[in-house]
Amino acid sequence: MKKVLVLYYSQSGQLGSVVESFISKLADEKIKVDVRRIEPVETYPYPWSFYKFADEFPEAVQMDGCKVKELENLEESYDLIILGYTIWFLAPSTPIVGFLKSNQAKRILKDKPVVTLIACRDMWVMAQEKMKGLLRAVDARLLDNVALTDQGKGIYSFVTTPRWLLTGKKDAFSIFPPAGILPSEIEAASRFGERLKKALKENREKQGEPLLQNLGAVNVNGKLIASEMIATRSSKIWAKIIKLFGKKRSFGRRVGLTLYSVFLVLLVFTVVPLNILVRKVLNLFQEEKLKALEVKYEKPSGR
Ligand SMILES: Cc1cc2nc3c(=O)[nH]c(=O)nc-3n(C[C@H](O)[C@H](O)[C@H](O)COP(=O)(O)O)c2cc1C
Repeated sequence: MKKVLVLYYSQSGQLGSVVESFISKLADEKIKVDVRRIEPVETYPYPWSFYKFADEFPEAVQMDGCKVKELENLEESYDLIILGYTIWFLAPSTPIVGFLKSNQAKRILKDKPVVTLIACRDMWVMAQEKMKGLLRAVDARLLDNVALTDQGKGIYSFVTTPRWLLTGKKDAFSIFPPAGILPSEIEAASRFGERLKKALKENREKQGEPLLQNLGAVNVNGKLIASEMIATRSSKIWAKIIKLFGKKRSFGRRVGLTLYSVFLVLLVFTVVPLNILVRKVLNLFQEEKLKALEVKYEKPSGR
């Protein structure tokens, strides 16, 4: 009997549905699947108010994590661990970081093969780099990565995802498509579990080679990597500055967050359009380099 542990943290339930579909063809009489939702000790709101949402920014960027409840009645050991996570401010979500920094995570994940499963708006590449560091710190082995992103990529989801997170509304409006991942993409995630089932029966999780290749597990757009890197660097600087203004929920913190919000709005209307133009020209001369970056960040599973 093979044992698979599935861990995830989802607020609206979207990642929960992705996880459900992912594992729908995995379990049978020879494969036991144990699904657990990570529970933060202090719960996070959903939908969010603007300031509560923004208040999480510095701690999420610096990956402070939060206290999470200990998981009970787990098996002694698992053959494979599937770790479902969402992205918060270009990093793995705070409850997932909290769990990965816990002593329980060190015990459960040590020397275990892990498949990461991301469901987010559109920017996960730098967060997965951070996830690799967190997994290394608990001596886990990353086997595969699957990433599903919101429909209406890029520009549309810049509007539809925040609207969804701040109001709970996911429906289409005006020129915008519905928020979140396409339901057909969520449904199609069952192909990954089906492949894992076959691999587990052949003991291939022990070999250290990726199991989910040629299934369209990830799709990195090389042209967006530079923006993610710049945004990651800038957010690290702002996270430090905002923390200097005060602790979570303090008046000082509000002032710092307001300044940062003004900076972001100015950026969106000035530097971002200029950057898009400059990048369009630069990208013409960097096709080879961008392709190489795509291949690098699409590892281990690839397209
Ligand atoms: C505080 C916060 C910050 C977020 N930052 C990002 C981000 O940097 N990149 C991204 O692609 N999605 C981001 N998202 C969207 C989430 O990754 C995810 O798609 C959304 O929260 C729905 O997930 P759920 O299953 O928890 O409801 C953010 C969400 C929250 C709540």
